[in-house]
Parts: sequence; structure tokens; C-alpha cells
Amino acid sequence: MERLDKIIASQGIYSRKEVKQLARQGRITVDGKAVLSSDVKVDAENSHIAVDGSEICVKKHIYIMLNKPQGVVSAARDAVTPTVIDILPDEFKVRKGLFPAGRLDKDTEGFVLITDDGDFAHRILSPKKHVSKTYLATLGKPFDNVIIQKFKDGVLLKDGSRCLSADVRLVEDGENPVVEVILHEGMYHQIKRMFAACQNEVIALKRIKMGNLHLDENLALGECREISYKELCMITDEKA
Ligand code: URA
Repeated sequence: MERLDKIIASQGIYSRKEVKQLARQGRITVDGKAVLSSDVKVDAENSHIAVDGSEICVKKHIYIMLNKPQGVVSAARDAVTPTVIDILPDEFKVRKGLFPAGRLDKDTEGFVLITDDGDFAHRILSPKKHVSKTYLATLGKPFDNVIIQKFKDGVLLKDGSRCLSADVRLVEDGENPVVEVILHEGMYHQIKRMFAACQNEVIALKRIKMGNLHLDENLALGECREISYKELCMITDEKA
């Protein structure tokens, strides 16, 4: 049970003060009955809460899949550069406490999960959970089996740290081969540093999958959509 003003305000449309006024004016109903005081406690999950007759769909948390374009930083706030939160449509941006669960470099594109659920973010980022992240990398130099073996053994980065075993396979050959890389951890600039340690170079990078959930191909760069509970479970590989 939670206070009515807290429940409604958490959806980002009305402030607590506005909720108080709306209640006084008799414009809020819980299960069809007007509630004149906004400090009453309500079971948010099992009640029908409405303002002026329109039901408020109470969601404890929100989970958004964004196809991040280049030039945008994976942070909640930044004084100079647009962030992944800044580029969300207003309907999502009104929600408080949103942050990206994990970081992509400013020049990396692709799947960023944005949420206000700290526990879920912790679960998908924890190295113990081994939630894989899949990327497409375009390379500056030829690709070969030596790189496959080094990735399998765990690449030794130039700063002396050793990566966990990772999978890499050729997707498209050519002057700038495209490879798919699956990581089970997330170190700073990891894929770029792994290829640099193999005397190669990443010239473009895109995250296409988190766990078993693919980036929706219908999302153009900069577009986003909410993901379903079933899709959320595909990230952590739990049964929906
Ligand atoms: N590895 C990188 O080098 N950059 C990213 O953005 C993600 C993984």
C-alpha cells in the first residue's frame, strides 16, 4: 500500500501538489469512488485509479529500448552533450529517475536500455549474472582465426588486464570486415581495446542484442519504445 499522491506523481504527469488539488476538487477516483484526500493509502497494483474519468495505468517501473545514434552520451545528465534521456519523447521523459542501464561510447550506436529500476539494472550489469551483450563491429584491417582464438582465450589488453572469454565471428568479409562479438562483461571501451590489442581497429560499432533480446529492427536511429515483460525476461533469460 502506498500514498495516492506518491503513486500518481510517480507516473510523471502530475506533481504531488497538483494531485492534492485534484483530490480536493473530487476529480480523482479509486475503484469508481471519489477520493478527496491524496494521502490515503492505496494498493496501486490492484486498484483502478482515475483522474477526470481517465484511468491512470500505474507502472512501478518503466523499461525502454532505445536505438542510440552517434553523438549522444549514455548518461542521465550532461552539461554540454545530449544524453540518451534528452532524446526520449516527452511521454517518457516526464518520468523521474530514468537512467541508461549500461554505457555505450558516444560514437557507438544501438541498443540502450533505459529504466528507473535500479535493481533490474544491477542484475543485467553484474558480471556474476553473465548477461551477454552482442555487437557488430566494422574493422579497419583484415580479420583472421588468430583473433578468434585470442578472443576465446581472453584478450590481454594493453594495460595488462585480461578479458573474459568472448565469441567473435565473421559476418561480412571485405576491405572493412564486419564481425559479431559477444561479451559477458562491460569494461570501458572494451571492444575497441580488444581489437587494438590484436593489432586491429574498430571503425564502427553497434550493439544489437542484450541477453536474448534483439534490438527492434523497426526502430530507426534515435527512436525508442517500451519493452514488454516478456521481452524483459529475454534479457535476463528468465521465464516470463
Ligand atoms: N565496447 C566499446 O569499445 N565501446 C562500446 O560502446 C561498447 C563496447
